[in-house]
Formats: sequence, C-alpha cells, structure tokens
Amino acid sequence: MNIDPAQISASSLYQHLIRIIAPRPIAWVSTISSTGVTNLAPFSFFTGVGAKPPSIVFCPSNRRDGTPKDSLKNILDTDEFVINVVPFLLAEAMNLSSAELPPDESEFELTGIETTPSIIVKPPRVQASPVSLECRLMQYLPLAPGPGGANIVVGKIVHLHLDDAVLDDAGWADPGLLDLIGRLGGASYCRTTDRFDLPRPSVP
Ligand SMILES: Cc1cc2nc3c(=O)[nH]c(=O)nc-3n(C[C@H](O)[C@H](O)[C@H](O)COP(=O)(O)O)c2cc1C
Repeated sequence: MNIDPAQISASSLYQHLIRIIAPRPIAWVSTISSTGVTNLAPFSFFTGVGAKPPSIVFCPSNRRDGTPKDSLKNILDTDEFVINVVPFLLAEAMNLSSAELPPDESEFELTGIETTPSIIVKPPRVQASPVSLECRLMQYLPLAPGPGGANIVVGKIVHLHLDDAVLDDAGWADPGLLDLIGRLGGASYCRTTDRFDLPRPSVP
C-alpha cells in the first residue's frame, strides 16, 4: 500500500501513525492552571531530546473543537509541567486520566491518584510514579491551527526524581524494576518485560 498523506483524512493518517510509530513511551503530564486546578493526562507522542540542555518533547494536538487541551493551556499559562513515567501497575489509572474533563475538574480526583509536591515547579508529581521529571517550557511550536492541529512542547528538565527502589547497584534506573509500559496502536499497550541486550559494535 502507498499513501499520499494529502489524499486521506487526518484521522485516518493518525490511525496509521499510532500503529507504525510504536512502541511509544508515555509522558504522564501533570500541570496546574493559573487558578490552581491540577491536571493530569497521558501523551505518547513523547520522547527525550538530549542531555544538553536536558530536554524532552511531547505533542498535545488541539481538541476536535480546535481549542488547546488543558495540559497545553496550563503549560502556556504557567511555563511549568512534570513528566511522570507509567509502570504497568498504573496503566489503568493512566488510561482513566485521559478522560476529557472540564478545566475546573482535576483528573487527580477522578483517578484517586495521590500527588506529592515537586521541588522546583508548582505542578505536583504523581506519588506512585517511580520517575518524575520537573520541566520548564523552553519552546512551543504550533504546527497547525484548528481541530486536531499538532503542537510541539519542548521542556527543559530542571529536576529529576528517581525512586531508589528502581535503581540498580550502579545507581541507574533498572528497566526490570521500572516495568514501564509503551503505547501501540488502538487500545494496545506493551510491557518492557520482554527485553534483550545488544552491545554496540566496536570499530576495528
Ligand atoms: C496512552 C495515551 C496516549 C495519548 N497520547 C496523546 C498524544 O500524544 N497527544 C494528544 O494530543 N493526546 C494524547 N492522548 C489523549 C489525551 O490524553 C486526552 O486528549 C486528554 O483528555 C488530554 O487531557 P487534557 O485536556 O487534560 O490535557 C493520549 C491518550 C492515551 C490514553
């Protein structure tokens, strides 16, 4: 099959992309509105950018009515957010937090997920998440206005929280202890329990 993206609807193209670009890590993003309402939502168009500066990107698209999602609005209003990682044990709560609530209702209350204060930024982090990255907005790049329009949020990591329980003897986060999930297409997810090692080639 060959596809010219200009010849199919954005929603069909989206369905292709979420199946092809997989597995994707999940940024469980906590923010706080300018009036103090906390917000929590998952975003899997997400990755790290680099360590210099310590940076990540994630991509909240506009809602069907063309307005920004609460996470994006809060970040644009306050410049701050936290990326929490999602272990298998929190998969259902993460999914529940993707419900589109009105901006004056908090997904933390809906899901019963406990918060704990961040150190540098105002939005709280997810207490049960083994790793949280406190971020400040570095760049906001809207790619298209209106319904479904894509946006890129670039965040500078200003503080990392790593639960000692997921660290190996050398102090690195251990994939087996993290037990993170990844998003595939449709309603499918994967676990990081099926792993293999591949040492990098050495140049002769
Ligand atoms: C696993 C998962 C990944 C998601 N990834 C994205 C994404 O990358 N971009 C996006 O715009 N929405 C994504 N969503 C949908 C948002 O979480 C959803 O629109 C949510 O209501 C946004 O909340 P907010 O308005 O509080 O920001 C995802 C949902 C799930 C369950």
